[in-house]
Amino acid sequence: MILCKTISDLTKVLSAKKAFNQTIGFVPTMGALHAGHLSLVKQAKQKSTCVVCSIFVNPTQFNQQSDLVNYPKTIDIDLKLLAESECDVVFIPSTDEIYPTGLQKMDASVLGSLTTVFEGAFRPGHFDGVYTVLTRLFDLVEPNLVYFGQKDFQQCLLVQKLIEFQQLPITFCMGDIVREKDGLAMSSRNIRLNSAERKAATEIYKALSLIKDNWHKSAASELIAIAKNQLELQQLIQIEYLNCVDANTLQVAEDIKNGVCLIAVNCGNTRLIDNVLLP
Ligand code: PAF
Repeated sequence: MILCKTISDLTKVLSAKKAFNQTIGFVPTMGALHAGHLSLVKQAKQKSTCVVCSIFVNPTQFNQQSDLVNYPKTIDIDLKLLAESECDVVFIPSTDEIYPTGLQKMDASVLGSLTTVFEGAFRPGHFDGVYTVLTRLFDLVEPNLVYFGQKDFQQCLLVQKLIEFQQLPITFCMGDIVREKDGLAMSSRNIRLNSAERKAATEIYKALSLIKDNWHKSAASELIAIAKNQLELQQLIQIEYLNCVDANTLQVAEDIKNGVCLIAVNCGNTRLIDNVLLP
């Protein structure tokens, strides 16, 4: 595995790969890697001759300074896991490399209304930061394929819109959510949960499963109300949103054909998101 810390190193390494017509599969991350990230690397490995993974904790996508400061950083373990997963190139740039002229953000609302609801509404500016950093990273890596996890479902839609809007020759691939044995979706933030919070967090997937398993058996509004009541029994959990929406537009519709159930909660001081596709 080749480690690049600067854009000039990355460009040299990738030009050599591209000269040999290698297919570049790109997995952008913010580090604190878990099995979900590694499954994306594995998936990328199957379709690309060169897998590039970036680790960059992007300051412009954090709407709270404390979340940025507390974001888990486990770089030595990350490098070991990536090497074991046969990642070919890891790019770990500094903030100055990515933002040489300062932390200006692009406006993600050009990608449409899906950037202003749910995560866009609860985390103002978050998608502007994601849009900015991915525009920069895609421009530097020039991947053929990019890999993102379904856990950040709204981010997956944003990436597809970005590719379409900027007319990039990139194929978007979405990896399934990888869950712990008790159902909790893997997330870099899970290591911040104490044992009581970790236990309460298992209720998130139970609430989603209740909705998914009873979908079409009762009205969506009823299922959501039952799931919310169940979750609200957990004192450590505060729901931000729990909604069933159209999976392409994220709009609430009367009769959802291709749906997704999205949830965000605060579990203690840790914000967790999850989702399930509706059958
Ligand atoms: O999903 C993430 O880890 C981040 O939002 C991403 C895509 C790496 C951009 O910083």
